[in-house]
Amino acid sequence: APSDPDLVERARAAKEKLGNKVFVLGHHYQRDEVIQFADVTGDSFKLARDAAARPEAEYIVFCGVHFMAESADILTSDEQKVVLPDLAAGCSMADMATAEQVAECWDVLTEAGVAEQVVPVSYMNSSADIKAFTGKHGGTICTSSNAKRALEWAFQQGEKVLFLPDQHLGRNTAVRDMGISLEDCVVYNPHKPNGGLTAEELRAAKMILWRGHCSVHGRFNLDSVNDVRERIPGVNVLVHPECKHEVVAAADHVGSTEHIIRTLEAAPAGSKWAIGTELNLVRRLANRFAPEGKEVVFLDKTVCFCSTMNRIDLPHLVWALESLAEGNLVNRIQVDQETEKFAKLALERMLALP
Ligand code: 13P
Ligand code: SF4
Repeated sequence: APSDPDLVERARAAKEKLGNKVFVLGHHYQRDEVIQFADVTGDSFKLARDAAARPEAEYIVFCGVHFMAESADILTSDEQKVVLPDLAAGCSMADMATAEQVAECWDVLTEAGVAEQVVPVSYMNSSADIKAFTGKHGGTICTSSNAKRALEWAFQQGEKVLFLPDQHLGRNTAVRDMGISLEDCVVYNPHKPNGGLTAEELRAAKMILWRGHCSVHGRFNLDSVNDVRERIPGVNVLVHPECKHEVVAAADHVGSTEHIIRTLEAAPAGSKWAIGTELNLVRRLANRFAPEGKEVVFLDKTVCFCSTMNRIDLPHLVWALESLAEGNLVNRIQVDQETEKFAKLALERMLALP
């Protein structure tokens, strides 16, 4: 639906009033009505880097979800304020690993005698607490665009990886990019005693995958792929690595949101694409590439938007920008200093990956 012209004008006016004091970041899964006001758009890796590269902006308005705003706060100076237009924009995957659960897991690994060999690798989609745990235990953060390099680095530091919180990204990267077999991956379930694993299983495993997943990408399944291939002969199936292993194994191409966009940019006219990622992005890509004769469809019509990404809408953005323009700092996301210190260590290890 077209954006409300009154709200569009108000957002424009508030941004103009703020000038260089504000920098608006927009994740690819954001609504069109919000993305039109982003100074830069990107995947979570690019946005983390872009946030860090804007020291002159007093306010960073993050149109994305909570863990992204936390990461931006960690990577920017203390004087810069990061604002999340709706505090309810969380991430169900990030919520699947709490600090208490992860501390308990480390105790389990210690008791099994394997903790010393384990390097934690945490997906960007995790709370600042989990990033701090990762930094403290010599690990790194990764995103879907550098998970392979993060695992390569981690296996130079130790023999095993604890990958949190997305089991699918962990498994897909281990199996596809690292040549690790499915049998060498075990799943740690934080809701079971000892994670549901025996000490022998932990000793034998190479990848210990946290039992977390994305509630959006986890809904694509093998039928989604088979059905679209039947419906659209010659279609290329391109999915995000947060999808289940069976989906990734059946797809033609796999990659982060930036990778998906670049792949479509390079695709020849007349090619057909079924995309397995969030719907706001897929719709935008379908509209963008249709005039070039590239057909882009959503991998499975029964899957819907990421509801928390969608919490950031034009009314919330207008409210945040107008508040800032009037001198009211609203919805600031601020990570405490102790957490920030260790989380930053883990994030900087990621930024330094080759
Ligand atoms: P990327 O933008 O890094 O591909 O991440 C996808 C995602 O799920 C963000 O919430
Ligand atoms: Fe979290 Fe999935 Fe939504 Fe990304 S798309 S914010 S991983 S629930």
